[in-house]
Amino acid sequence: MQEKFYQTNSVEETYLFGEALGRCLVAGDVLALAGELGAGKTTITHGIAQGLGITSPISSPTFTLLFEHPAGTENLPLFHFDAYRLTDETEWYDAGFMEYFDNQGVVIIEWADKIKNVLPQTAKWLHITTNLAQPEQRVFRLSIEYDSDFNWENLTAWELCKNLL
Ligand SMILES: Nc1ncnc2c1ncn2[C@@H]1O[C@H](COP(=O)(O)OP(=O)(O)OP(=O)(O)O)[C@@H](O)[C@H]1O
Ligand SMILES: [Mg+2]
Repeated sequence: MQEKFYQTNSVEETYLFGEALGRCLVAGDVLALAGELGAGKTTITHGIAQGLGITSPISSPTFTLLFEHPAGTENLPLFHFDAYRLTDETEWYDAGFMEYFDNQGVVIIEWADKIKNVLPQTAKWLHITTNLAQPEQRVFRLSIEYDSDFNWENLTAWELCKNLL
């Protein structure tokens, strides 16, 4: 397993981090987002969509479990789920969502910890933590168990640029 930590100090930096992360994603990737209410799961999804060249607006799916975004310049459609209102994995299963793990797009799931038992082993996890003393700060822990081809260098490049700002 490989994991790395990234820190942002503003919404804008989170967008840029998301954009860099989006450019690392490939067809079939599942990105599991975890973090408390307001951690920044939807915000980083905006950035990721930007990195995928997707132009349709990203919403906060309060009452909708799934938003589908047609492929943009990277030719990857985005399936944006929010599992907040699911009680457990059974509802995910019953809704027929398992088939989304087997597609040629990118799947992002907010509150993925609610359905962790049905996620593919290849899912990439992004845990977001806040810091009470620094309200604009977010720490992202990206952990990847089964993808030796993941382009970590792209994120290193983002970090180097960020530090130059
Ligand atoms: N560095 C930062 N990165 C991301 N969001 C930040 C940052 N600093 C402050 N914020 C604020 O935190 C909030 C993040 O909201 P967002 O909707 O992305 O969270 P969420 O994790 O999707 O919440 P929910 O669990 O309700 O879906 C926004 O109000 C945003 O302005
Ligand atoms: Mg959200």
